[in-house]
Amino acid sequence: MAKMWAGRTEGVTSKLADDFNSSIHFDCRMFKQDITGSMAHAAMLGAKGIITPTDADTLIEGLEGILNDLQSGALEFDMSCEDIHMFVEQVLTERLGDVGKKLHTARSRNDQVALDLRMYLRDECDTVMGLVKKLVEVILIKAGEYKAAIMPGYTHLQRAQPITFGHHLMAYAMMLLRDLERLSDCRKRINVSPIGSCALAGTTYDTDRYFEAEKLGFDSVCMNSIDGVSDRDFCAELLSAFSILMMHLSRFSEEVILWCSWEFKFVELSDEYTTGSSIMPQKKNPDMAELVRGKTGRVYGDLVSMLTVLKGIPLAYNKDMQEDKESVFDACDTVKMCLMVFAEMLSGMRAIPENMKKAAQKGFINATDLADYLVKKGLPFRSAYKISGELVRKCIAENKVLEELSLDEFKAHSELIEDDIYSEIDLLTCVEKRISLGGTSVSMVERQIEFVKNKLSI
Ligand code: ARG
Repeated sequence: MAKMWAGRTEGVTSKLADDFNSSIHFDCRMFKQDITGSMAHAAMLGAKGIITPTDADTLIEGLEGILNDLQSGALEFDMSCEDIHMFVEQVLTERLGDVGKKLHTARSRNDQVALDLRMYLRDECDTVMGLVKKLVEVILIKAGEYKAAIMPGYTHLQRAQPITFGHHLMAYAMMLLRDLERLSDCRKRINVSPIGSCALAGTTYDTDRYFEAEKLGFDSVCMNSIDGVSDRDFCAELLSAFSILMMHLSRFSEEVILWCSWEFKFVELSDEYTTGSSIMPQKKNPDMAELVRGKTGRVYGDLVSMLTVLKGIPLAYNKDMQEDKESVFDACDTVKMCLMVFAEMLSGMRAIPENMKKAAQKGFINATDLADYLVKKGLPFRSAYKISGELVRKCIAENKVLEELSLDEFKAHSELIEDDIYSEIDLLTCVEKRISLGGTSVSMVERQIEFVKNKLSI
């Protein structure tokens, strides 16, 4: 069959070229945006007298019918159409006759596709933000539950200083808050209407771009028609925000995986969010966390693919830009799925505070506190640091921890050490003393929880 754009040529293309050129199998997911966009366009054409109000009403009704039929399943996509835009226009013309052919006045598929994509991604951005908030809520619950559970804090994956599990979890809440900010900032630039840019140069018709933008919930309009049809920054930006978000989930996943291992055994995941091995009967694997970590690479790939598609194309629209959709759709699907699974997995995760505490008792993670104790007794920090280090060395040689040294042994290294040293280097004291803003003491973790709750207004 000849194409709708037949004229300059017969509009007859090879089957191979059609398969290569066609995008309906992936852009059909924007049907709702495409049809509501067209309804606003028809309304504008009618309001401005470019078509008659009766024709505008007929078009709007016809479009509504197509939308309902697609939603109910009464109408199926015709995969032989080039894209979703051509499909909708074809069905409309089949149903309405010549009036259907008036819809495409004063627009082009170039501004139409940019409009659809912005509307689609605006919704996806909102959905993702909702899912991030849900995940933060799970973190807040867990952080509250474990705000006094002592565990070793690490640097270089070496035990460093005692912290609480609640404090550690709240670090992720802060990252996710930033992700929310990034997404809402990105949404501002998604929500600018390109419709009315037409093919690239604008149009000779007396259109009202603000009318359409307002009807479709946009905050503003693209102010240069060439930019309007060729800008895909909003895709790259959304993918960047998604990539950073996935990087956070991936780091979190990595920790969950470590914590689940027998080497740590800090947490236990629920049976529903783990898998077994087909050969090793003892296994309970954290597959969900591993997949989130793995899928992060996939989202990074989507970002790189988008940037690479864009880097060499001259203004304005080029067909390369059809390649924007699959990567951004894939990233949306992946990010949503990962957020949902991760939140469920986390909510079923039980910490094992005894094991965390046991790990915290080894590794001399109170050595800084011993040095700080000596500083408070009048020694300069560097000298105090040295004495503390020597005591650690002695303990390692004798297979002891600092708390097990007698007062005489302490005193042999510094006369300043008194009996109160034992309470000072007790892990609970070490944690509770860290009352600096953002620190690990229970009161400070509570404050962090309040801070995040306020930000989310919950
Ligand atoms: N399917 C196309 C896309 O996704 C729609 C725009 C086509 N425009 C054109 N001039 N051929 O980019």
